This record gives sequence, C-alpha cells and structure tokens, in this order.
Amino acid sequence: MQKILIVDDESKIRRLYRSLLTAEGFEVFEAEKSQRANEILNKEEVDLILLDLALPDFNGDQLHKKIKKKSGKPKVIVASVYSVDKQRIRIPDADGYFDKSEGTDVLLSRIESVFRSSGSKAKALHTIPLFWPFISDKVVDAISEVLKTRWVGEGPLVRRVEETFQSMFKIPHAVAVNSCTSALHLAYILAGVHEGDEVITTPLTCYATVTPVLYQKAKPVFADIIPGTLNIDPISIHKKITNKTKAIVVVHWGGDPCNMDEIGAIARERGIPIIEDAAHALGATYHERPIGGLSDFTCFSFQAIKHITTADGGMLATLSKERAEKAGKLRWYGIDRNFHGDLYEKFKIEELGYKYHMNDLTAAMLLAQLEDLQKVLNRRKQIVDRYRDALKEIDGIELLWKQNDRESANWLFNVLVDRRDDFQKKLASKGIETSLVHVRLDVYPILGGNRQNLPGMDQVEPRYLALPLHNHLTDEDVEFVIQTIREGW
Ligand SMILES: Cc1ncc(COP(=O)(O)O)c(C=O)c1O
Repeated sequence: MQKILIVDDESKIRRLYRSLLTAEGFEVFEAEKSQRANEILNKEEVDLILLDLALPDFNGDQLHKKIKKKSGKPKVIVASVYSVDKQRIRIPDADGYFDKSEGTDVLLSRIESVFRSSGSKAKALHTIPLFWPFISDKVVDAISEVLKTRWVGEGPLVRRVEETFQSMFKIPHAVAVNSCTSALHLAYILAGVHEGDEVITTPLTCYATVTPVLYQKAKPVFADIIPGTLNIDPISIHKKITNKTKAIVVVHWGGDPCNMDEIGAIARERGIPIIEDAAHALGATYHERPIGGLSDFTCFSFQAIKHITTADGGMLATLSKERAEKAGKLRWYGIDRNFHGDLYEKFKIEELGYKYHMNDLTAAMLLAQLEDLQKVLNRRKQIVDRYRDALKEIDGIELLWKQNDRESANWLFNVLVDRRDDFQKKLASKGIETSLVHVRLDVYPILGGNRQNLPGMDQVEPRYLALPLHNHLTDEDVEFVIQTIREGW
C-alpha cells in the first residue's frame, strides 16, 4: 500500500484529502506542522508528500529542502492556494504542483502522473478520462454578474449570444435554445415533418438525433455510412429517398464534416431540406466555410461533454428569417416574446409551442466559453495530430480519412481497431478510458430492434472506438496513451 503524507495546517483540508486518498486505497498520514511531518518521515517510508507552503512553524520550502530522498522517494507535490501560473510558488525540485482551487479530480490526476513519471507501478489511480468538460475561468465571473442582476431568465444576453454566434460562424440567423435536441425538434417542425413522414439519417449517432423525429410521429430511415469516415454515405441517401422523405439529417460524426456538396446536390434535386446535426462539429469548416451557414438548418449542442459547455444548451442556425422568427416563437410556447402590446393580442397563440428557450445564465456562460473556443479547438487539433502521427503505422489500427477540403472540430478521436475488446481491456488496465460513444440506432427496440442491411455500418461495427480527447489532457497523458498502445494488446 502506498503511503501519502499530508502536511497542511488547515484541518479541513487535511480531512478532505484524507477521505479522498483513503478511498483511493492509500495509507494516509497527516501533519499540521513541519515538526510532526519530520517525525513521521523518520518512522515511515512515505511515497509522496502533499506539502502546503504556509506552515506555522516552518516554511514548507525549508521543510522540502530537509527531506532526504532515498532512491527518489518521497515524491513531493506542492499543494498551494496560489496559482502556479501566477508564479507565487517556486520550489526548485518539487515533483508536481497543485493549486488547491483546481479541485480534487485534478489533484488525483497530478498524483497519478507523478507516480507514473517515476515509473512506479502505482495502480491507475485516476483514469485518463475519455471526456472532461472545458470550463473557462471567465464563466464563474460571467455567471456571478448575471446573478447580481434581477434577470436570470431569457433576456438581453440570449440575444447577444445569438448575435455573437451569427458573426463567429457566418450564420444568417441563430436561435438559442436549451439543448440540441430542442433545436432538432424545432428544425423538424419547421421542415414540415409530420406523422407518417420519413426522415433519412445515419445509424451511427446519438439517439437524440431521432428522438424528435419520433415526437413528430415520423419514421427515421437509416442510410448507410462510409467506413473511412463513419459519416452518412450520399449514395445511400439517394437510394433511400421516397415520396415520403421530408428531411435529410446529417451528423458530422466526431466533428468531421460530411460530404456536404454531394448531399446538397441530392437534396436540391429532390427539393428536400437538409438538417445538420452539428452537435459534434462546433468550429468545423467545409470548403473553408464554417459549419452552421451551409444548410437550411444546423443544430449545435453545449451539453456537458461538448467542446464548450453550458451544462446544457443548444443553438438552431437557419438561413431563413421567417423560419428563425417562427423558431423564436415555438421555443416559447408559440408566443412572440418580443411583442409588448395588448396581452390578448400577445396570447393569440396559433400553433403548439414548447419551453425550449435559453436563459440569461446559460447565455452568459456561453458568451464566456465562446471567447476560448479557438484555444479549445487548437489544443484538440494538436492532440489529434500527435495521435495520428504516432498511431499511423501501428498494426491493428486504422485511422479515419483526413480530408483536405474540410477541417474537423475534433470532438472525438476515433480509430478502427482490431480485437477491440482486448484493446479496450489493455487500455483500461492502465486507467485509460475508451468508448464507442454511441451504438447503431437500428438495434434499439424503439427503432425496430434489428440490424438493417447497412454493409458499411456492419464493417466498422466491431472496430470503431474513441480514445481520450479533451482539453485537460497533458502532453504526458497523450504520450502515455500512445505508449500503452505501442506495447500491444
Ligand atoms: C449527434 C448528437 N446529436 C444530438 C445530441 C443531443 O444534444 P443535447 O444533449 O444538447 O440535446 C447529441 C448529444 O450528445 C449528439 O451527440
């Protein structure tokens, strides 16, 4: 059992870390002062010290100098209230730093990476998660500002975030809602999808893509996918069109844009609207144009694990002013919130609407998050480039196509892998999470429950897999994933 010594004068902090680390299977010692810490170190072979700097009897850095390491032990993580970025702490040979405001998840990952970098066979303490939400520091201030005002419902910030979104992604009209599912539902209504109609889409997507098709009592029809991209195949779309088809719904799987030129040509020829489910594709481009301004409707998600999150939230983009106005009413029970005249006039509701609007708290969060979107996208691209470069020649792994006429938003990093179960088990044994993320929809009982004739989907079904990709991944984490894969499975 590995031993960790917590040196901190605050008993509350010691209690918190003790319960966290005990639950992770460490033997934990506590010292309030350096003197007590020294006594423990003389008796116990401690593996790691979590060291607060501001000790009453001694400065932590002086204690640190006195620690005698035997064969590299104990490791020392300086746990401070001061941010490392602000350069308030400087300890020459500390093994790691932890700013107490970073949260316990981060602490566990620091401890793990310190053990890992020393080659210790520490059990995977804290996984390298598949997803980890990005939440910018600015969000807390942005929310607090709104909380100080009287207005937390749908208000001026919702309009502001719509305008920001329009200009960032060259979108003619944006309507902010409470989820991508809501945006999709409004798009289906506006595209005229009704009972008995058919909507062509991909089988490889989240159930949310088709749930609102079912709300409309219409039928999802699955076209096949291209095994090299996992995206819907235009040729298959063409074959599935009937006179009941009311919409073509494409999903940019993992953030890689679909073949929009071919799909656009088919849709135009048959006069069928295109709805892009861009839940994975915020910031992606196709022929240098941002996803969002290409089709009749595009739906975005800011749900918990997306590039930038507002916990939940969505945006409907549309090319048509009339449809945007109608969507604006439908998101609020069918009532025009901008109408400020007589209430009997205002409530002349003609069409069933929903409670799908975004509120000002969410909008404030989104505005703050959007400021960092480019940074988020750049880092994801950097990680994906490294993965691609390192994994391209590994036997048993096939990369998806990289297409030069489009830029992925890199929400997922998918590979096709042989003996996927063994691969997942190997990575899991090192604490690395992987996942299919979604399974083909035709097997869901509510959608038929049987594998349909989709050879492209069949081909990749036993092989596709997503590796960890998020903004908390360090370069060392990425190398650790790569190294683990190189070891074989
Ligand atoms: C492809 C796809 N579409 C739609 C959604 C639904 O998004 P939301 O949770 O914002 O409704 C998701 C959610 O993860 C998704 O992956």
